[in-house]
Amino acid sequence: MINNRVTQLLGIRYPIVQGGMMWVGRAELASAVSNAGGLGILTGLTQPSPEALYQEIARCRLMTDQPFGVNLTILPAIKPPPYGEYLDAMISAGIKIVETAGQNPEPHLAKLKAAGIKVIHKCTSVRHALKAEAVGCDIVSVDGFECAGHPGEDDIPNLVLLAAAKQKLTIPMLASGGIANGYQMAAVMALGAEGINMGSRFVATREAPVHHNLKQAMVDGDERCTTLIFRSLKNSSRVYKNSIANQVLDIEQRGNTQFSDLQPLVAGARGRANCIEGGDIEGGIWTVGMVMGLIDDIPSCDELLQRIIAEAREAVQQRLSGFA
Ligand SMILES: Cc1cc2nc3c(=O)[nH]c(=O)nc-3n(C[C@H](O)[C@H](O)[C@H](O)COP(=O)(O)O)c2cc1C
Repeated sequence: MINNRVTQLLGIRYPIVQGGMMWVGRAELASAVSNAGGLGILTGLTQPSPEALYQEIARCRLMTDQPFGVNLTILPAIKPPPYGEYLDAMISAGIKIVETAGQNPEPHLAKLKAAGIKVIHKCTSVRHALKAEAVGCDIVSVDGFECAGHPGEDDIPNLVLLAAAKQKLTIPMLASGGIANGYQMAAVMALGAEGINMGSRFVATREAPVHHNLKQAMVDGDERCTTLIFRSLKNSSRVYKNSIANQVLDIEQRGNTQFSDLQPLVAGARGRANCIEGGDIEGGIWTVGMVMGLIDDIPSCDELLQRIIAEAREAVQQRLSGFA
């Protein structure tokens, strides 16, 4: 048990959060993280409809009696999903913690707050973290350049980003991006974070509903195995560096790229069917971060959290003991 603002606000034992992950953030993973003492998060848009999300929340509740949350990622889309209806499904299912990401959550905050929901906003810059604080979010998750998925366009790694955010923020901050072990947890808490948010590390766990081949590729790979696609569209995304990602980069390098030029290669349905479910690591685009270089096994979520806490304690008691 670690007692700080994050564990108190979220009602959890360890300030370790599993960030929303498209196609991965299902009840199997979220409940395992919450049962292990962290905060599991279901990914709202992984469910095909608000009704399906309501059912998934009910399923997760059968698998854990501990708190868990739901992620709502608001990204530019030609045909946006019915965000308001997804939020209504979360509220009527009794969810008390929501992770927002992608855009400023302000348009949805009144509704969330009226339902007594704690809001964690995930963002990639100090200015967006301050905006989240100003509009009433409870916690910010600050995602550095190392992270899987969308790191923004500023390219500031966490050693600087977290320290800079800490100087200006009042609300608690989670460190996100590039974290896999307790030595790193101790380091980011020294920088002023009050907990960690991890994505990739949780994909390579026994409970993650992901094909074993992807988990094994994360164990086999190192910190150089990711790349950033969609830079030319100012919507950068860190993904596994495979032949499909390289084809995307080739097209982007030609200039004047339109999303439609890339769509057949990057379609989410393709990545889901071929990679996440089918296990073909070259079959489409799949999201992972530089932290691949620190992932050497496929533990259960409980083993992972226990190990992280033990490593963080060791870091403080031994590696940092000279400061005490
Ligand atoms: C497979 C995968 C899918 C992801 N999908 C989403 C998503 O839909 N929404 C979101 O806010 N973040 C998403 N993320 C980002 C994570 O929530 C988290 O911020 C990120 O993974 C942190 O970096 P790390 O992987 O180095 O721990 C995804 C990450 C992964 C690995």
